[in-house]
Amino acid sequence: MSTRIAVLCSGGGTNLQAVIDAVEAGTIDGEIVLVLSNASKAYALERARKHNIPAVFVSKKQAGSDEAFNDEILKKLQEVGAELVVLAGYLPIVGKQIVKAYEHRIINIHPALIPSFCGPGMYGHHVHEAVLAYGAKISGATTHFVDEEVDHGGVIMQRSVPVMEDDTPDTLAARVLTVEHQILPESVRLFCAGKLGVDGRRVHVL
Ligand code: GRF
Repeated sequence: MSTRIAVLCSGGGTNLQAVIDAVEAGTIDGEIVLVLSNASKAYALERARKHNIPAVFVSKKQAGSDEAFNDEILKKLQEVGAELVVLAGYLPIVGKQIVKAYEHRIINIHPALIPSFCGPGMYGHHVHEAVLAYGAKISGATTHFVDEEVDHGGVIMQRSVPVMEDDTPDTLAARVLTVEHQILPESVRLFCAGKLGVDGRRVHVL
């Protein structure tokens, strides 16, 4: 029985597209049953529609509070029977009620090598600016399970890229994005194949 996958996005959705492509190629034994965004104009929603995947906008403003916003998201996840939640360029902090309901079933992609350059405020370009400002020689991407702290859950996969002398945040972001598009679908594939074992903080590929 293939895994029912919900993907949460806030932006362009290139990571979502990588997962869609892997599902459609049959690499991932799963079905994307919902794409949900906190941004009504997120192109990720358009990508979902193009692939006949239910695309839903949930407004944080209309919800009135973080609690109500996350309650509404949890309700939608449960309505579609989501078994795995993928955060693919999703900016809001996931509410505790969702983390509790989906322990070790929420995968996030972070554009750096956790535990470096991560945590509150470290998203998108802020990450690459910090890497360059620090003078790091490698960067990369990390997939990890989501727990109640930001960018803190068990690491699933990491892949590094070199930082070049003449890099700008844009050129580094583009290089990191290419490995994001590799390790996110691979992490989802492993989860759907039941090949991710969790032992405390450590995640093992079985
Ligand atoms: C990218 O910076 C990625 O590193 C992070 O979210 C941003 C947008 O990704 N995960 P996407 O193109 O919306 O998937």
